[in-house]
Amino acid sequence: MNICMIGTGYVGLVTGACFAELGYKVTCVDNDPRKIGMLKIGEMPIYEPGLEKLVRKNVAAKRLFFSMSIADAIQNADFAFIAVGTPPRSDGSADLSYVENVAREIATHMKKYLVIVEKSTVPVETCEWVKKTVTKFNRKKVPFDVVSNPEFLREGTAVHDFSKPDRVIVGVESERAKKAMARLYAPLRCPIVFTDTKSAEIIKHASNSFLATKISYINSVARICEKVGANVEQVAQGMGFDPRIGRSFLNAGCGFGGFCFPKDLEAFLWISKKLGADFEMLESVKKVNEEQMIHFVRKIEESLWIVSGKTVGILGLAFKPHTDDMRFAPSIDIIRMLQERGAKIQAYDPISMPNAKKVLQNVALKDSIYEAARGADALVIVTEWPQFKKMDLKKIKKLLTHPTIVDGRNLFDPEAMKKLGFHYASVGRKPV
Ligand code: UDX
Repeated sequence: MNICMIGTGYVGLVTGACFAELGYKVTCVDNDPRKIGMLKIGEMPIYEPGLEKLVRKNVAAKRLFFSMSIADAIQNADFAFIAVGTPPRSDGSADLSYVENVAREIATHMKKYLVIVEKSTVPVETCEWVKKTVTKFNRKKVPFDVVSNPEFLREGTAVHDFSKPDRVIVGVESERAKKAMARLYAPLRCPIVFTDTKSAEIIKHASNSFLATKISYINSVARICEKVGANVEQVAQGMGFDPRIGRSFLNAGCGFGGFCFPKDLEAFLWISKKLGADFEMLESVKKVNEEQMIHFVRKIEESLWIVSGKTVGILGLAFKPHTDDMRFAPSIDIIRMLQERGAKIQAYDPISMPNAKKVLQNVALKDSIYEAARGADALVIVTEWPQFKKMDLKKIKKLLTHPTIVDGRNLFDPEAMKKLGFHYASVGRKPV
C-alpha cells in the first residue's frame, strides 16, 4: 500500500517511518525546505529515540521517501495522512488553517479513490470540515473517504508507542474506508476501535485531558501532603494498587508541559464552551497546573530566602526526559519567574540545548550537570532525566555554595539526602 504522510513533525515523521517499517511505501511531505533538506541527507529535524535508525533503514530499503509536493506524493497513494500542526490560537482554540490548506491541496491533486486520514489532534467536527473542503475542491469528482485516526504517541517513546499501541482508534463513515484502515493496521495485531469520526476525535481530546487531570489531581493532593508532612509518593503508590485508579500519571511534580497536554486542554475547553457544554473541571486542571509552577518557585524561594542576586543551577529544560522538545516546558516559566525575582540562571539539559539557545534569554547554558551546579546557591531539578538520578551527590555538594537541592520531580529520598547533609525540598514531601 502507498501512503502520503503530510507533515514531518513528531507525529508525521514517526508515523511515516513506522509505516515504512511495516513494509508500506511512504512519502513524507513537508513545506519546510529545511526539514526536507535534512531528511534527504539522513539528518533528523527532531530528536526521537530510534527514529534516525528507522528512517535511514527504510530510505535505504526504498520504502521511505521525502518530498515538498503533495501533488506528486498522492499520485499513487491509497492513503493521505494529514499530520500537520494545529497550534493554539490566543483564545485557546486550535488553528486549523494548515489542515484546511492540506485538505484543499489533496482535493485538487488526487487522481483515484483515496482514504484521507486526519491524524493531527483536532477538535470534534473537524472531519466534517475536511470532508466539505475536499468535496468543494474535488473538481474531478474522485471518490474519497475522510477518517479520523488520532495518535497516542508520547514523545521520547513514540516509535515504541506506534509499534505497540494499546489501541488504534478509527472513526469511519463507510465500509470501504473501514476495510482499508483494518488492512493498513492489521500488521500491528492490536485492538482497533472502529467508531464514527466525531467519537474518534473526542476520544483523543478526552484521553489527553483525562491524563492531565490525573496529574493536576495528584499535584493538588501533594499540596495537602506538604501541609501535614505526609508523603505524596506513598499516597500515589497506595492509590495506584486499585486498578480502577492505576499508578501511572500520578507522579507529583512541578507541573506538566509539552505541545500536547496544555494545547489539547485549551482546545477541549474551547470547543466545549463553543458547544455550550462547559467543561469547568478542565479549567481547574489548567489552573492547578499553572499554580503548581508558581508554588514550585515559592519552594525555591523558601530554600534561598532572598532570590535576588543568587545563582540558581537548573537541571532539565525539555518538558520531559528523552526528548529535545521545549514547547510549553515548565522550565521556561520557572526560569522566567526566577529571573523576575533577580536570580542568575545557569542550566544544563542532556539533549535540548540547541532549542534552549532559541527560547531562553540571559541563561548561562552549561555543558554538564556539574558545571550547572558549580557556584550555584541552589540546584533545581525540573526534568527527570535518568542522568540526574545517578549524579555524584558528594561532588555536587562541593560544587554548590550551599548544599541546597530543590527537586521538582522527586528523584531522591529525603532521608538519604538529609544524611548526605543537603537541605532538600521536593514536591508533596517534607523538606529536610
Ligand atoms: C502525551 C500523552 O501521554 C500521549 O498519549 C499523547 O499522544 C500526546 O501527549 P507527551 O506530551 O509526549 O504525551 O508526554 P507525557 O509523557 O504524557 O507527559 C506530558 C507531561 O506530563 C510532561 O511534562 C510530564 O513531565 C508530565 N507528567 C507526566 C507529570 O507531571 N506527572 C506524571 O505522572 C506524568
